[in-house]
Amino acid sequence: MHLLFICSAALLLFLPASALSRGIVDHGHWNELRDLTHNASHDDSQAKSSPPLVIDTFKNPTRNDLGFWHGSGENLTVRHGPGYVRLFPTDPDQNFHTQFDSNACYSMIPWRNEYLHVIFEGTDQYSVSFNQHNDECNPKRRPFPGIADSVQAERYVVHPASEAFAEDDFAEDDNWDCADNVHADAGRKKHKHRKSKGGRRKHSQGNTKIPTGRRELYIPLAHFDIDFNRVVSVSFHGFYTHEPVTLYHVEVVPDVPMPSPENGHYRVPRKLPNGKLVLRCSRPNSFAFGIDDGQPQYSQQVMRILDEEGVRVTFFVVGAGLRDPTSNFTEFYKEMLKKGHQVAFHSNTHPKMESLPTLAEIDDEIIQSMQIFREQLGIESSYFRPPFGTVASRLRQEIARHIPNPSIVNWSVDVEDWLWADTSTPEKQLEAFFRSVEKGGNLAVMHYLHPTTIGYLPEFIRHVKSAGYQIMRIDQCLGDVSAPPL
Ligand SMILES: *[C@@H]1O[C@H](CO)[C@@H](O)[C@H](O)[C@H]1NC(C)=O
Ligand SMILES: *[C@@H]1O[C@H](CO)[C@@H](O)[C@H](O)[C@H]1NC(C)=O
Ligand SMILES: *[C@@H]1O[C@H](CO)[C@@H](O)[C@H](O)[C@H]1NC(C)=O
Ligand SMILES: *[C@@H]1O[C@H](CO)[C@@H](O)[C@H](O)[C@H]1NC(C)=O
Ligand SMILES: [Zn+2]
Repeated sequence: MHLLFICSAALLLFLPASALSRGIVDHGHWNELRDLTHNASHDDSQAKSSPPLVIDTFKNPTRNDLGFWHGSGENLTVRHGPGYVRLFPTDPDQNFHTQFDSNACYSMIPWRNEYLHVIFEGTDQYSVSFNQHNDECNPKRRPFPGIADSVQAERYVVHPASEAFAEDDFAEDDNWDCADNVHADAGRKKHKHRKSKGGRRKHSQGNTKIPTGRRELYIPLAHFDIDFNRVVSVSFHGFYTHEPVTLYHVEVVPDVPMPSPENGHYRVPRKLPNGKLVLRCSRPNSFAFGIDDGQPQYSQQVMRILDEEGVRVTFFVVGAGLRDPTSNFTEFYKEMLKKGHQVAFHSNTHPKMESLPTLAEIDDEIIQSMQIFREQLGIESSYFRPPFGTVASRLRQEIARHIPNPSIVNWSVDVEDWLWADTSTPEKQLEAFFRSVEKGGNLAVMHYLHPTTIGYLPEFIRHVKSAGYQIMRIDQCLGDVSAPPL
């Protein structure tokens, strides 16, 4: 249904031919290009009545063209200039948001069949996300944003003919919206083949070629699986190189360029399946603990507490730990499975996966952990928690290539044990927990690495129970039909 829709939209756009192919090549005349584009689209499209939505042209250091905030999250170095912002990323968690009204839910329904158009310069090795507001449309509630879907910028870039890409960089590997099934299958095979050879299509590390000059990309809004009734921002993140990127223009337009020799026969790529991101439980009055890495010497104590409190949780387990017999983790998690807890993936060696330079390395983490789970525990899972909660488009796509219909589980309650457990104020873990629950969070992250955290676990559980929640596994709190009954 989705695909059909994309297909017919693309056809509509390609039929009225002509106007757009004119402007694409000349990097010196972007404004003219934009005028042509917009006039043309108004003229020949009765089906689309919404005007172009200019989100951001970076004229102001703190506000976008809609009058709302734009800026970076913590630790992203940013340089503003007239009509641009330059980002100097060092980490995939860093982000730059350009926001809609965060105190309300912004409806982009009139534009949802259209395209996000970004004019930029520098690296294309980042993710673009549409972020959905939370249920209450309130930035003070958790989680905020509510959910996000992201795609890889590089797949959507319009390549001027002057950039000499090898044939298979562009022409064959990704298949397009309107490809028939035969093509789609061929494309998938190629995709796999290419990935297994080791990753990125171009600009491979050590051989870094960042095209100079402004480039542009178009992403169908339909490629973002969010509720367009409640948009809160567009963001740029998931940087996996340290190359800067300069943003000039972010807008929504009704058309994409016509394929032409000048633009390398541009076509919009198909959407790659990606993992659904989960930040909270959806079942009414449910609450779940997702417990990540632990120290072997504390595992029996964790088990006793969960037994005494009579609750079931989800453990996100690092694969390599199960291979180490001295950890006793395999025996421990086998027993936890028997007791009805959920055991799910947390990578093989716990790297920040989104920052791994090649897709092959991301794949290896996934494949190894699947294999270890099968061998050591005799289980599979479709639940995955990214180490450090770091996740953008590449990791989401790779997970979905190996695990059908996966859930990628972040959180909306953070115990902040990584921050306070080993300090002179460990009670701040309790405060952090209470605060997140107070703000509406219902899916927790914690570890059993420090005695202080484990010491607070009974209090966490009792607090949640007394607030009227029912504690369950994450698959149960999401209403997964394959989860065991409560
Ligand atoms: C585009 O529209 C503007 C303003 O409506 C007009 O001045 C301009 O001539 C138009 N350009 C074309 C190519 O139609
Ligand atoms: C930001 O950078 C500083 C200094 O490099 C570091 O101490 C801090 O942990 C970083 N914060 C985040 C959220 O990455
Ligand atoms: C290993 O774990 C199992 C299951 O929890 C437990 O029964 C056993 O006592 C543990 N062994 C050691 C040496 O801790
Ligand atoms: C997942 O959690 C991490 C850590 O809190 C956060 O940095 C990241 O933005 C979250 N990702 C999403 C898509 O919410
Ligand atoms: Zn972890």
